[in-house]
Amino acid sequence: MTAAPATDIKSIDKILARHPRSETAALVNILHDLQAEFGFLAEKVLRRAAVYIGVPQVQLFRVVTFYEGFHLKPRGKHICTVCVGTACHVRGASKLVDHIERQFKVSVGNTTNDMQLTLESVNCVGACALGPLVMIDGSYHGNMSASKLDKILKPLKRK
Ligand code: FES
Repeated sequence: MTAAPATDIKSIDKILARHPRSETAALVNILHDLQAEFGFLAEKVLRRAAVYIGVPQVQLFRVVTFYEGFHLKPRGKHICTVCVGTACHVRGASKLVDHIERQFKVSVGNTTNDMQLTLESVNCVGACALGPLVMIDGSYHGNMSASKLDKILKPLKRK
């Protein structure tokens, strides 16, 4: 029987050293931390991060615009995300988007002037049977209608 290899730091590092460090992974982690601190990634923040990491700023923009989780603009206190994937679309998702846009005077991808609500859309979150689906601050609301939506969103509307 052969003894298991020792798991001391040197051994672990030796194995890790076989793999190239992923610059992109480090970059993503840095961007996550910056966004967690500032709420979004302002150009000034990205410029500073690019200098720190030593990559062109355009590379950071590519990463930020590739991943849906990064935001280049400030977001509202509440986030309303309407699924506009095929299953939700055929069940009236676009009517829900129109309804919210009218009620809150905000277009998809933007935030109300009072910074209360950001309206976003997504293409399928894998809960198609519940469509049309709307997520409000991360909570899923299925089989959504304009009237149900009004009840949920009404408290978020400032008088
Ligand atoms: S299309 Fe909306 S959850 Fe799949």
